Amino acid sequence: MAVQKILYDCDPGHDDAVALMLAAGSPELELLGVTIVAGNQTLDNTGRNACHVLQWLGREEIPVYTGCERPMVRDRVTAGDIHGETGLDGPVFPPLRKRPEPEHAVRFLVRTLMSSQGDVTVVTSGPMTNLAMALRMEPAAAEKIRRIVLMGGSYTNGNVTPAAEFNILADPEAAHVCFTAGRPVTMIGLDVTRKVLCYPEIVERMARADTCASRLFVDLMGHFCRTQKEVFGWEGGPLHDPVTIASLLDPALVVTKPMNVRIDLSHGESYGRTNCDAFGYLGLPATADVAVDIDVPRFWDIIETGLRRYSETGKQA
Ligand code: RIB
Ligand code: CA
Repeated sequence: MAVQKILYDCDPGHDDAVALMLAAGSPELELLGVTIVAGNQTLDNTGRNACHVLQWLGREEIPVYTGCERPMVRDRVTAGDIHGETGLDGPVFPPLRKRPEPEHAVRFLVRTLMSSQGDVTVVTSGPMTNLAMALRMEPAAAEKIRRIVLMGGSYTNGNVTPAAEFNILADPEAAHVCFTAGRPVTMIGLDVTRKVLCYPEIVERMARADTCASRLFVDLMGHFCRTQKEVFGWEGGPLHDPVTIASLLDPALVVTKPMNVRIDLSHGESYGRTNCDAFGYLGLPATADVAVDIDVPRFWDIIETGLRRYSETGKQA
């Protein structure tokens, strides 16, 4: 498989941090840059968290760009109940050297896409504000996107309201811009991410890798799994965001179904819902490939492989 060029936009966030470890350590991927959005926590926190993770992994050379600190239209929401006051509560990091780049994430996205050969996959695992703003700033950037792969939405129930999932609800208008950009979209929703529950035996398995990445994984899951149990009653935290990156490493990981997906922008109880026409009942053209199933054992194999790619001291093996 040829090396895939990707841009990764996220809101670290414990599960974003695991996705970042996977993206930064996989030779199958060329990570052109990491763009940061407010979501799980404020932009200051999510930006700092991304820098901490890359520095810990010995991947300080990967540039981080901070972007939008609030949604396009609605008021800002965060998820401190899950990710804590810092957005990455749990791990203790050494003093931070790495800083975000001075360029705004939206400008970086536009510049990188416009100078590309149209072979860049954009992965998002937070509110889609940065990507949406880039598409509004430079509409020609859309045709330069090979595919948008997002963690977000669900065709069943949500996790913030009964209707809506956090990443979409945190900026529904941005999601609408991205879903209607005319580019191929893969939607990795709660429907499959709730199948990859990080049970204690999974944490023990990853700890045995004994690398800088596996130690961070254990510390992240210590907090994430506790809060997921407190809030949702899960016996293992659903590891949402890494499914996006893992699906690039193994296209057979998730089963998708083309569906017409529309974002509910009304301001009723279903605001921010991804309305997925699973049966094509409306006779409308499909607008996204929606994940409907996942090979769970294969997913954890990909995670373990990714964690083992790092050395004990923070440089890749
Ligand atoms: O609903 C889960 C999503 O919201 C994940 O991306 C998590 O990190 C939060 O951003
Ligand atoms: Ca996230």
